[in-house]
Amino acid sequence: MSNTILVTGGAGFIGSNFIHYWLRRYPEDKVINLDLLTYAGNLDNLKDIENNSNYKFVHGDICDTNLVDDIVKEVNLIVHFAAESHVDRSIMNSADFIRSNVEGTRVLLDAARRHNIRFHHISTDEVFGDLGPNDPLFNESTPYNPRSPYSASKAASDYLVRAYFHTHKLPITISNCSNNYGPYQFPEKLIPLFVTNLIEGKKVPLYGDGQNIRDWLYVEDHCRAIDLIVHKGRIGETYCVGGGTEKTNLEITKAILKLMGASEDMIEYVKDRPGHDRRYAIDFSKIKNELDWEPQVKFEEGLAKTVNWYKENKKWWRRIKSGEYQKYYDKNMD
Ligand code: NAD
Ligand code: DAU
Repeated sequence: MSNTILVTGGAGFIGSNFIHYWLRRYPEDKVINLDLLTYAGNLDNLKDIENNSNYKFVHGDICDTNLVDDIVKEVNLIVHFAAESHVDRSIMNSADFIRSNVEGTRVLLDAARRHNIRFHHISTDEVFGDLGPNDPLFNESTPYNPRSPYSASKAASDYLVRAYFHTHKLPITISNCSNNYGPYQFPEKLIPLFVTNLIEGKKVPLYGDGQNIRDWLYVEDHCRAIDLIVHKGRIGETYCVGGGTEKTNLEITKAILKLMGASEDMIEYVKDRPGHDRRYAIDFSKIKNELDWEPQVKFEEGLAKTVNWYKENKKWWRRIKSGEYQKYYDKNMD
């Protein structure tokens, strides 16, 4: 049976990779992409499929109850990516994070409930807080301990999704994933910022002592995990998804410098992020045992592919970095 899917936030980094993945894998399915085109949403990510008759873009807000209801009654699956996603921005101003991540999720859940639609919620490992050097890895039973406004907003949305399962029996699943990287990632995040800065001959701003640890996953591996959860995951369950690739930020930086033939003099140690979590790492044995998922792309291979993508797609990120992007959309969108 073919599906009609609502993908929210499909013009962002993971959402656009997911739409490409999905239409390749399930060419008979129909995908509706609802995206507000905030600073992070970019229709250039989807240019190659804009004329695909099974793909439709709707410019709009997940907080818009009537619009969301109109779309949800046409679909049989919702995969919910739309969110404010950058921790540093949430530290400067958390208002949009509460609005889109919490209220937006509530609006979608209510529409899903009215029409009894299967709902998959994309979340983050940041809801679990901070790991010490000898702590066990995050898993599905790790208590929530969000410590940035971003992760607090994602934790609130996760709790709402769980509550709609327990209270209203809405058929939901949740995935909590570690740091993604790959093509189309907005150049404010560590890897694309550093790669594009180096192409431009600029230094790379490493926070604090560079010893914070993240667990990196190539974006296509994440898309495959979501596919499996949507099709075979147990309703009401949470799945932790990770790359099994713990690296300090300094290790990542050195790997990028090496791939780009740049010297370590290009590192500029800058003031630390306030409340900067020291370490995240995921135990993905549940999804491995239940759904036979594990990462397929090795970090060295994924990083090399990513660096090449940014080298080959300078127009994509130069427009964003120059600010021309916003002007382009102000002119082209209603
Ligand atoms: P992103 O910032 O690149 O994209 C977010 C998209 O959501 C943008 O296209 C934006 O326009 C859209 N959006 C924001 N508010 C909206 C609203 N009110 N209505 C409609 N659209 C709206 O984010 P990303 O990195 O692709 O992350 C996608 C999801 O995955 C988020 O929920 C994030 O919390 C989660 N996540 C991200 C990572 C990661 O490493 N990037 C890891 C784990 C989980
Ligand atoms: O763990 C999953 C999360 O990963 C997602 O939920 C978030 O949406 C996503 O943005 C990402 O959050 P991080 O804060 O880990 O990603 P970011 O790329 O902003 O930073 C990665 C690490 O690099 C972090 O320890 C901070 C550091 N950093 C980041 C930037 C932008 C720097 O040292 N310098 C920088 O300029």
